[in-house]
Order: sequence, then C-alpha cells, then structure tokens
Amino acid sequence: MASFDQRASARFLHLSVASLLARLASASAVLTSTGLSVKLNDVNYYVSPFSSGKVVVPRCSLGKVPDVVGFKPVTVVQGAFAQSDLPQLFANWTAIDDVWQPAFSEAIFMAESHNHYGQTNSTVVISLKNSTAPSGPYFLQVATGSLYPVYRLYEDFAGAFTEPLIPTPEGKFQAMSAKIPGAASLTIGVPSRLYFTKTAEKPLAGVRLGVKDIYRLAGVKGTNGNRAWYNLYPASEVTGTAVQRLIDAGAQVVGIQKTSQFANGESATADWVDYHAPFNPRGDGYNDPSSSSSGAGASIASYEWLDIAIGSDTGGSIRGPAGVQGLFGNRPSQDLVSLDAVMPLAPTLDTPGFLVRDPYIWNDANAAMYGQNYTSLAGKKPKYPKQIYVMNFPSSPSNAANTLLLDFASALASFIGGTTTALNLEAQWAASKPAAAGNATLSTLLSATYATIISKEQTPLIRDPFYRDYAAAHNGRLPFINPVPLRRWAYGDSLPASALDEAYAAKSLFQSWFNTEILPPASSSSPDEAECSSSLIVYVGSTGNPNPRNTYRGAPGIPLGFGTSRISVFSGVPDSVFPIGEVARLSSITGVEEMLPVAVNVLAAAGCDGLVVRLAQELVEAGLLKVPKAGGTMEGGEVLMRRGLVGDDVWQ
Ligand SMILES: *[C@@H]1O[C@H](CO)[C@@H](O)[C@H](O)[C@H]1NC(C)=O
Ligand SMILES: *[C@@H]1O[C@H](CO)[C@@H](O)[C@H](O)[C@H]1NC(C)=O
Ligand SMILES: *[C@@H]1O[C@H](CO)[C@@H](O)[C@H](O)[C@H]1NC(C)=O
Ligand SMILES: *[C@@H]1O[C@H](CO)[C@@H](O)[C@H](O)[C@H]1NC(C)=O
Ligand SMILES: *[C@@H]1O[C@H](CO)[C@@H](O)[C@H](O)[C@H]1NC(C)=O
Repeated sequence: MASFDQRASARFLHLSVASLLARLASASAVLTSTGLSVKLNDVNYYVSPFSSGKVVVPRCSLGKVPDVVGFKPVTVVQGAFAQSDLPQLFANWTAIDDVWQPAFSEAIFMAESHNHYGQTNSTVVISLKNSTAPSGPYFLQVATGSLYPVYRLYEDFAGAFTEPLIPTPEGKFQAMSAKIPGAASLTIGVPSRLYFTKTAEKPLAGVRLGVKDIYRLAGVKGTNGNRAWYNLYPASEVTGTAVQRLIDAGAQVVGIQKTSQFANGESATADWVDYHAPFNPRGDGYNDPSSSSSGAGASIASYEWLDIAIGSDTGGSIRGPAGVQGLFGNRPSQDLVSLDAVMPLAPTLDTPGFLVRDPYIWNDANAAMYGQNYTSLAGKKPKYPKQIYVMNFPSSPSNAANTLLLDFASALASFIGGTTTALNLEAQWAASKPAAAGNATLSTLLSATYATIISKEQTPLIRDPFYRDYAAAHNGRLPFINPVPLRRWAYGDSLPASALDEAYAAKSLFQSWFNTEILPPASSSSPDEAECSSSLIVYVGSTGNPNPRNTYRGAPGIPLGFGTSRISVFSGVPDSVFPIGEVARLSSITGVEEMLPVAVNVLAAAGCDGLVVRLAQELVEAGLLKVPKAGGTMEGGEVLMRRGLVGDDVWQ
C-alpha cells in the first residue's frame, strides 16, 4: 500500500512539474481587474473596473486627498454651476442619492476655466475641461486620470439574490466581486443615481432592477433554482426582449434573484432543497415569502435601495409574493411581450410582470416592457368603470383584516362614483355557460386544467432536454430535482396525451365566456377620456394570516382546483395586487403581535393593464392607498430576522 502511494505521488509530482513547465513555456499572464472594494468613512463601496472617462489631473494637485492603491474619491459636477452653488447642489444630491457622500468632495472636477487649490478649506476644485463623465462620485486613478464609477455595497440580508451583477461595456453583465466584510449573505452593489438622467427615451434612467433567475442575461449563468442546471449550462449569449427593453429604457440591473425551482410553487424551507428560500421581512421575519418570484418580493419589501424587480406569473408567482409582502404587483394581460430567453413553466400561461413599491415606477416599467401593447392613457383622463364586482369579500367587519377589506371596497366605490356588487362566478356560469360545457360546474371543468397545462408543457421543454444533457455529461445519471417539480412532472407523465387538449379546450371555453359575459371591454369611450374595461373585479388577496416557514409539511401534492386566483390565468386578463394595509397577528416566533400585510387583487378587461396602474396612482394621491415602505412593516422599521451589519443601509 505504502509503495503504491509513493509511486502514485512520484508520478503525480512528475506530471505536475511537466505540466507546470509546459505552462511556463507558453506563459503569458492575463491579469484582469474585477473591481476593487474600499471603505470611505463608514460606507463600503465597490470601484467598477470599467472607466467612465478621463480627466486631466494637474501635477501635485491632489496630495491631500486620501487614496487606496492609487484611487482617490472625487466628485464630478457637470453643468453651469458656480462654486457658491455647491453646498446647495450637494444637499440636493444627498437627498436623492445614497451613494454620494461629502467625503467625495475633497476634490471636485467642475466645468470652469481655472483650477483652485485649497483656498478656504481642504477642497480642491479642478477644471473638468472637456470630460463627459456624468456628474457624481468617482474613484479617480491618479496615474491615468481615469474615472471609475462608484457602487455602494449593501448586504442581501433577506437572501433574495443568486448573484450581484454589473454591466460590461459590451452590453453584457458580469458578477460583481465585492463582499462587505462580515456580511452573512451576498453583497449587492448599486450605482450612484447621479449618473443617470430621466428623459423621454430613458424613463427608467437609473432605476435599480432585480431580475428573476429565469430571465437569461448575456454573460450570466442561470440557475432556474437548480444547482445541477447552473453547473451544466454555460452563460447565456443573449438578454431576452423583456429585460432588454427595461435596460434600453435606462434600468440598471443590479443582480439576479431567487426563484423557486423551475418557477413551480414551493413552500419555504420544506420544499426549497437546492437553495434556501428568501426571507419575507414583514412581521416576525419568518413567514413564507411565497413563490415563485420569491427573491423579487423579499428584496422589494426589504431594501429601500432597490426600486423594482421583474418576476413572472404563471399561476400566482407574482401575486403571491406581492400579497404576503405588501407590495404592488402585476400579472399582466397574456402575451404582451415575447418571452424569448426566459425559462418556461408553461408558455400558454406564463406572463412577465413586476413587484414594486412605487406605482409611478410601476407604470414606467410596464410602458417600457410592454411597449405599444400597454394601455396608453397618455394625455387622457382615465374613465373608471362604475361597476365594481367583489369576490369572496367578508359580509361584516368581524376582524381587522375584514374591516380593511370592506373599508377599501367602499372607498374605491366612492372614489370611482360607482357601486359594488358581489359576484358569484359559479352562479353566473350556471346561468349563462356555453352549451359545449354540458352540465359541468367551473370547479369540475377547470379543476385539473392548470396542473395539466404546466406539467405537460414544462416536461418536454425543460425536463427532457435537461435530463438528456445531464446524462450525456454525467454517465447516464439524473440531476437532483426538488420534490415539487418532480411531483408535478410525474403527474404530467401519468396523464394521457389527450389530457392536454382537454385542458386547452376547458381553458378556452372559460376564456371566451368570461371575456364576453363577465368582464368584456368597455362598450364605448369618449375621445378625451380613456375607458377600457366594462367593470372591475376585486377579490380578496392576502389576509394577514401567518404562514411560518419553520413548518414540517407532507409530501407535495398537485395544484388542482379552481379559485379566484385562476380567473386571470385562464382568461388572460390583467390581475394586479394592491396592498391595502396590515393587521396585527400573534407571532409563534416572537410571542407578540406583529404586523402582516392585507391585499386585494384587481381584475380589468384584457389589455386594460394601464388603467389599473393609473387607478393605483390616483388612490395613492387621494390617500386611499399608501406607498408601502421597505422594512419590518409596510410603514418601514426594523427587520426582525436580520443578522449583523444593522445600520449599514441607514444613510448618515
Ligand atoms: C469647502 O469649499 C467647497 C467649495 O467652495 C464647498 O463646497 C464646501 O462646502 C467647503 N467645505 C467646508 C467644510 O467648508
Ligand atoms: C436644489 O434643488 C432645488 C429644489 O429642487 C432647486 O430649486 C435648486 O435649484 C437645486 N439647486 C442646485 C444647486 O441644484
Ligand atoms: C479633450 O479634447 C481633446 C481634443 O479633442 C482630446 O485630445 C482630449 O483627450 C480630451 N480630453 C478629455 C478628458 O476627454
Ligand atoms: C404585442 O402583442 C402581440 C401579440 O402577443 C405581439 O405579437 C407583439 O410583438 C407585441 N408588441 C410588442 C411591442 O411587444
Ligand atoms: C353531468 O352529465 C354527465 C354525463 O353527461 C353525468 O354523468 C353526470 O352525472 C352529470 N352531472 C351532474 C351533476 O348532473
């Protein structure tokens, strides 16, 4: 045994020396900057490896400004400002940007003709000459005069991201390499907001965007929530249409975000085997963040520094996370934008939408992503339908959540000047269903429709090629798959091929009935008022019920059944979440009452997406809805489950 080991190690040594010599022979060291992490006062920053431009640095001018390996913090001020404007300008910057801080102002490059060195205080003002780098903070490489953009670093304490990203000059993305010392989670970097100016062409300039890890980005390896997938496939060559439109409108992608596996619905902890589920910051911090756009919801509810996240909704994957985290969110009308370079759950039902706090950013992002398919209300006064149908609403204000729901319904009705009527969909169906439906109720007709379509569509598109490619790369082995997708795929296998056609037929029967009998477009519209939908349907979303993530569960089942959340899935109408408030519920973790969000869903006729977002904006303006804040409650505040580095995101 010993002699075998010796022989083996001698042979190994011989081989490694030989290969080392071979490598030396062709040696050519490739040294690449992946950026630099620094700390300025108490704030962690990342220095991008990609320069934004150059300035001319007069000799010996910056001697008093501190540096790290030749990089000095400086500020660029473009535009016709005088030195006397600077205090006001910097006060303005501090109010809108979390990246710039006064410590960048020891050296100021501004568009004026003369250099001023340390006149009244330690500030050095230097002529910007013809440099076009946008205003804001930079790290200046003194030796070359190159200006490097600054990213502020934040801890992803909610575990919402799979990878932080920065854009490359080639229009691709690469991993952002910095980590905050001591951070327990990934670190995300956000660029200064001062670099970006909102214009008609760039309505999302500087808007910080998280992207669900099913949207492929050029230069980025995706996971789809599965580690074997990540390891097997190379980085994407392309960015798909939906995300590219957001980027073209100025959005800044700061990272990709967790999805439950292959975008199937999973319960936190129990079902999340390959990756850990993100943390819902509301309440005690241990409630399920819902899925599958879990990273999107957890991040927007946790981080004031992130503006919007793109998720996807097939059976509730945006609406669920928006509801339980108290955010605005939309499943859009079906087929508003191509889903190329996006992992499908079921192309027939998949939709791309957003989770967001601010309904104005929501509108701009929708307009950018859906293009001309987004209801244009430009220059028009929205005309809301007078008929509001409510579904599953309580009959009395018997608890705090029911009170919020009933108050919202009556506030909405008086705001619109309309009336609310309870809608019983089964009764309507019984009265006006198409002959082809026979005697079927909605719950019998549509019970297996969703489960059939997702399992039958995803298996040939995702599972089968994945299994083939994995087996080819790993001697016939199978990859690890979480219990939920495995169970759903097996269900699809158990059905005859004809089941899919039956599911399509049932969906189509419901869709044409619902979109003509129940929620047709508005019949007429005056030229100066944008009307779109014949009515609005409001159904109960989250009711503030605790759903702790530390729960042992049974084996996963099949998503059978029909309910309010399936109406938009089968009819293709837009379905948007409005957070209406929060209620105190006893936490099994903290032993005291914590606040949990209550939300409604609003349905409008197909194609009326813009009308619903305008309604959200006007309800906020009227004080009937609040823009939710990031934090432990919708009013902000400490996130209870957070570990370490508390205060890092509090601007001084
Ligand atoms: C130093 O001078 C600059 C430029 O005039 C000004 O913006 C800044 O506020 C001054 N700093 C202090 C501490 O007075
Ligand atoms: C600062 O902001 C105020 C309010 O928007 C504006 O009136 C003022 O011109 C700004 N000052 C500078 C120097 O940018
Ligand atoms: C300014 O313009 C001159 C002449 O066009 C050019 O040589 C120089 O590189 C420019 N400087 C900067 C900082 O862009
Ligand atoms: C609008 O929707 C149609 C139908 O789904 C699609 O073919 C078209 O590409 C969409 N337009 C835009 C601008 O995305
Ligand atoms: C509906 O019709 C089928 C046959 O068409 C029959 O088997 C079934 O019992 C009927 N169900 C009801 C509830 O009437």
